[in-house]
Amino acid sequence: MERTLSIIKPDGVAKNVIGEVIRRFETSGIKIAAMKMIQLTKPQAQGFYAVHKQRPFFDSLTDFMTSGPIVVMILEGEDVIAQNRKLMGATNFKDAEEGTIRKDYATDIEKNVVHGSDAPETAAFEIGYFFNDLEIQQR
Ligand code: CMP
Repeated sequence: MERTLSIIKPDGVAKNVIGEVIRRFETSGIKIAAMKMIQLTKPQAQGFYAVHKQRPFFDSLTDFMTSGPIVVMILEGEDVIAQNRKLMGATNFKDAEEGTIRKDYATDIEKNVVHGSDAPETAAFEIGYFFNDLEIQQR
């Protein structure tokens, strides 16, 4: 069993697709092991996206991520990191496959509705960034 961190970004929350995104996870057999809605401060967003701090889009991305509430979740399942990435589609919605979350709802390379960890090491860091052990359902 594997875990990954999923975020419904401020644009996804504003578009009222929280339920739709979660429905896609659940109908794919993915379990939600933890979930909360929060609004990040700028330092919190900068800490989360620290790997991108040299990128030209870092300031804009961290502004966007603090612009409204987000929903953070731990997803659990077999091969869930890859499964979630398939459901999300490519980072740039223009390259995303038909039927993916980003193809259906993203409007911009930055405002791309969802985030998902890209590897086991990043999943461990990202889960620990938002959740402590008491907040995670143990099955
Ligand atoms: P995410 O999967 O959360 O990982 C990093 C985020 O940076 C990405 O989704 C986009 O929201 C954003 N991003 C990635 N590439 C670019 C880019 N070229 N321009 C602006 N934002 C980007």
